[in-house]
Amino acid sequence: MATVLSVSGSPSATSRTARLLRHLDADLAAQGHEVIPLDVRTLPAEALLGADFAHPEIVRAAELVARADGVVIGTPVYKAAYSGLLKSFLDLLPQYALTGKTVLPLATGGTTAHVLALDYALRPVLSSMGAAHIVQGWFVLDRHIAADDDGTVVLDPASAAPLDQVVAQFAAALGRTAPVPAAR
Ligand SMILES: Cc1cc2nc3c(=O)[nH]c(=O)nc-3n(C[C@H](O)[C@H](O)[C@H](O)COP(=O)(O)O)c2cc1C
Repeated sequence: MATVLSVSGSPSATSRTARLLRHLDADLAAQGHEVIPLDVRTLPAEALLGADFAHPEIVRAAELVARADGVVIGTPVYKAAYSGLLKSFLDLLPQYALTGKTVLPLATGGTTAHVLALDYALRPVLSSMGAAHIVQGWFVLDRHIAADDDGTVVLDPASAAPLDQVVAQFAAALGRTAPVPAAR
């Protein structure tokens, strides 16, 4: 079974993106994968903003990326692109940090006018970082992500079905990508 790092790039303390990811993490874990959640907002702000590559928490996060076979990358759409927080994290990783990895890009947003942000903004960055296989991503409307009183995530059926499908494609691709050493 694979090791999956599940990265949320939302700065929000009550993030729908993070909620969505934790829901998908549970699905992947139920399939036997080791899933490690990483909320970029919990990393030290001064290290992210000051490009402190050597900060122990940044080094540790980069090691988690290096260890992972697959990476789920979730971001809110901000100003028709991915979040600045996510970019500040990706900028601290080695250029080819995603070499040999299977990547599932996900976005949440307030309007379907920006569904393509995943493809025109995030995907080229992931590709430039050497991702072996970027599977089909998905954009989820923020109003489709809710939580029960006990915190259980409830997805609108209009989003739940296609999400199941992209997660299944990601899980299937995880088994097919051979490990490759990162380029230097
Ligand atoms: C500063 C800011 C900019 C936003 N810009 C967009 C946008 O351009 N397009 C869009 O669809 N939603 C936009 N939204 C809505 C968020 O993408 C959406 O509510 C998202 O689900 C928030 O995710 P989060 O709760 O994980 O932070 C914006 C929200 C904020 C706070």
